[in-house]
Amino acid sequence: MVTRWIDLRSDTVTKPTEAMRSAMAKAEVDDDVLTFDPTGLRLEKEMVRITGKEAALFVPSGTMGNLISVLTHCDVRGSEVILGHNSHIHVYENGGISTIGGVHPRTVINNKDGTMDINMIEAAIRDPAFEICYPTTKLICLENSHCNAGGRCISVEYIDKVGELAKKHGLKLHIDGARIFNASTALGVPVDRLVQAADSVSICLSKGLGAPVGSMIVGSKSFIAKAKILRKTLGGGMRQIGVLCAAALVALQDNVGKLEDDHKKAKTLAEGLDSINGLRVDVAAVETNIVYLDILESSNMTAPKLCKALEGHGILVMEDKPDRVRLVLHHQIFATDVQFTLSCIQQAVNAASDENAASPLGI
Ligand SMILES: Cc1ncc(COP(=O)(O)O)c(C=O)c1O
Repeated sequence: MVTRWIDLRSDTVTKPTEAMRSAMAKAEVDDDVLTFDPTGLRLEKEMVRITGKEAALFVPSGTMGNLISVLTHCDVRGSEVILGHNSHIHVYENGGISTIGGVHPRTVINNKDGTMDINMIEAAIRDPAFEICYPTTKLICLENSHCNAGGRCISVEYIDKVGELAKKHGLKLHIDGARIFNASTALGVPVDRLVQAADSVSICLSKGLGAPVGSMIVGSKSFIAKAKILRKTLGGGMRQIGVLCAAALVALQDNVGKLEDDHKKAKTLAEGLDSINGLRVDVAAVETNIVYLDILESSNMTAPKLCKALEGHGILVMEDKPDRVRLVLHHQIFATDVQFTLSCIQQAVNAASDENAASPLGI
């Protein structure tokens, strides 16, 4: 019988802590659409301090944060945004920038580390002399840490270079910083320095930070003033948001310091998995809290089989491909959970191998 679930599907699965629930219960609130919610205003002020930008805005989700940011920068239909082919905005956000905003995506191949070749970004910028045919490039988007690259971090030097390129061509730079605190922790670079070159950043409160709901977008005062109108248009203007922002303030205070430990647990898990016969993890690529596990053909194991076997032990992981599984660490996973997960995976792989050996064809 399962007595404790070890949920490694994502860092979005965390439950609010007692401190968060208590802060939510006591939160001072008012109508945020009318800009009067005091706890919301406190959270905005805190985000402004952390990111070094002029203004901040609470939004219901990372997807809405990215959508509002892109649409605010690309305020003319037919504008074009340059972004990674493997970026969250391009792959997982329902193409909202096109379907809702009339913004045209121009993808550049993401390298394995989540960056895009800077020369390729520059080559993707449209020549305004041909505006009779071309969409108008307005924006470049980066993602840090980069989720589909396995949570790898983009360096401040790289971001600065992309920022310079954007400036040179009169473009804006947006960072999908859903996990910017993970990147900041892993790189040892404060968030305000890491995003210095960006005109806007969207930051999730409900991922590694462990708050139950919400994201923030930050940028200049005029950017946030326009973003606030778009938030209302999209139905993201909410009333007593202080209930949610109170939990986020606790998350900022209590959980940012735990990210380093999440990254250590991810590394331990990655090393342990890589040492199991039939499995492979690119350990060097595990820089933050995400681990991609490849299952080798020789193992007689598949991702669905592994997920099912682990579920029997109370461990939840996410199938990425038939031979690939994703495991994500967060503050509600303990070092003992990592060891238990490793022993259950070893057991499942051994069982699959024994099955293979027992097969009459030996295959
Ligand atoms: C890198 C990245 N950006 C944006 C999002 C979207 O956030 P939300 O799920 O809050 O819409 C996610 C969600 O997993 C993400 O990983």
